[in-house]
Amino acid sequence: MKFLVTAGPTREAIDPVRFLSNRSTGKMGYAVAGAARRAGHHVRLIFGPVALAVPGGVEGIPVTTAAEMCTAVETDLPWCDVLVMVAAVADWRPVQVADRKLKKREMTPLIHLERTVDILEHIRQQKGGRLMVGFAAETGRVLEEARRKLQEKDLDLIVANDVSDPHSGFAVDTNRVLFVERGGATREFPLLTKDDVAAHIVTWIESKSASQCPR
Ligand code: CTP
Repeated sequence: MKFLVTAGPTREAIDPVRFLSNRSTGKMGYAVAGAARRAGHHVRLIFGPVALAVPGGVEGIPVTTAAEMCTAVETDLPWCDVLVMVAAVADWRPVQVADRKLKKREMTPLIHLERTVDILEHIRQQKGGRLMVGFAAETGRVLEEARRKLQEKDLDLIVANDVSDPHSGFAVDTNRVLFVERGGATREFPLLTKDDVAAHIVTWIESKSASQCPR
């Protein structure tokens, strides 16, 4: 199969030296890309600013902003059989980006924000027969929020995690996730390494793809 995976945060500039972003380090998305590659799939990995090496055999596509990530996803969507959106896309960006460094002696800026594009919602009309997998980063009401996002973003699977748990979520090598499938089935996993979570996601995708296209 052809896997298109996104990973890491995006960065939205305030001025030439400052930006808005989030705590994502890219570990979960890179683990998905690595697991899919090890399982023998073709993998393209679109990644925001992270400090990780692209896994061997994976084609890496670096981006910075949500808008750039959206363009990269849209460009490669026709190529892929499955999109796994692991990236923590920044949800807001400054309306205006200063072209020179804002000087603290001159002002305390009031930064007006606007929504960035929701990539999954933007591409949902172009889904075709592809599988779409999303992540849900939550700090409470995990199941309810995962169900809402599954429906609003027209996903086949959402992988939800509670990022307020210190062993789960950002910057650690472990994750405790909940799968919520289209149709409502759920599966709760114990605390696992991100590599093991990634392997479960790849296995789930392979099983769905096999049932969608019987040989
Ligand atoms: N996502 C996206 N585009 C965005 C934000 C998120 O495509 N601008 C994707 C993420 O990659 C993830 C899913 O949508 O697969 C859910 O992301 P999450 O950050 O959990 O939720 P949000 O959509 O940002 O919603 P909320 O602010 O209500 O948590």
